[in-house]
Parts: sequence; C-alpha cells; structure tokens
Amino acid sequence: MTKKQLLDELKSKMEADTSLPLRGGATQLVFGDGDPDTEILFIGEGPGYWEDQKGVPFVGNAGLLLNQILLKIGVERRNIYITNVVHHRPPENRDPTAEEIMAYQTYLDEIIKIIDPKMIVTLGRFSMGKFMPNVFISSVHGREKAVDWKGKSITVVPMYHPAAALRSTEVKLKLTADFERLPEVLKKIKEKNDTIGEVAKKVEQMALV
Ligand code: URA
Repeated sequence: MTKKQLLDELKSKMEADTSLPLRGGATQLVFGDGDPDTEILFIGEGPGYWEDQKGVPFVGNAGLLLNQILLKIGVERRNIYITNVVHHRPPENRDPTAEEIMAYQTYLDEIIKIIDPKMIVTLGRFSMGKFMPNVFISSVHGREKAVDWKGKSITVVPMYHPAAALRSTEVKLKLTADFERLPEVLKKIKEKNDTIGEVAKKVEQMALV
C-alpha cells in the first residue's frame, strides 16, 4: 500500500472512533494535509475555527503566515505534510489538556510512522513537548536535536507557533530566522544518512570477503 492509502485508511479509522474526547464539540476531523512522501513533517497544536470549518490544518491566519515563511525558504506547502497533536478543535480554541493529547497520541504516532520523515518540525510548545519534555521553547527554538522516537533516531526542530509570531514582531523575526536554517539542517541529515549508508555497505562487503 502507498503512504497515501495508509493515511486514508487511518483517517477513516479515526473518523469512526467515538472515544476521541474532542469530537463532540467539533464540526469535523482535521487529520492532516500535504504530500505523504515528504521529507519534512510539521506538527502543530490543534485545529482552530477555520480548520474546523474546512477540515484542513493551518488554513487560518497562522496557516497563511506559515505558507509565506515556507515560500521564503523555497518550500511549497504542498510539498510538506502537516498535522496536529489533537485532530478535533478544542472548544473556544482553548489549549488541549494532557489527557486529550494522550487520547490522540496513537493516531499521531501512526501518522509519523507512515510518513517516516527525515525531519520533524514542531510548531509550538505542545508538539515540542511530545519529543522534548520539560524544556522552554525560548531556549531551544530553531535548534535541531536527534531524538529517540520508538527506538529510532529522528531529527526534531522545535519552532515557535506561527500564531505567536502573529502576536509579536520579535517572535516573527525569530521564527523566520529559524525557518531559514531548515534547508541546511535537512542537507546535513541527508549527508549523515549517506555516510551511514556507505559505512553499512563497506561492512557488508567486508563480511563477504
Ligand atoms: N494552529 C494549529 O496548531 N493547528 C492548526 O491546524 C491551526 C492553527
């Protein structure tokens, strides 16, 4: 099955899951959007008003800013995949609780597993907390970190949430500067993977002699 088919199947499963705590107050499920074969997965917080109306993540003002910053670094929104830690809109856009995040976690983990990205960019403190608990976003934003995720090393780049950048020019400047580093971070990950691949090939060849 292709990644798209696997994601479609997971989405149907989620739509049928009546145990999800925020579904009662939401218009619809906001599963994810973009290219399932991407190298970069973005994870936000949860749907807001427009996302809830349209069923697509990051289509409100924060999404427009995100699209602009992506274009600045030469990345089109349709070439990345984007999802959230909770996939139904919390009432009045309040923060999701720890219990709610836990309830959606299995699905988010499955999305990550299917996409298998080279890099995860977290937007805001809730998605950052999934990979880097007990840190302040002000201390770690924009700095990539190799994180052990289910026995696999994955590069995570914590970013400020675009909604915070809409409220503060200082945060917007920091967010833009952090995004400008992303192409270089991705290049480094690929170079490292190539080296690991070459070493593995050499070890295999030596074992054959
Ligand atoms: N903010 C988020 O974190 N996610 C969305 O989908 C929209 C706004």
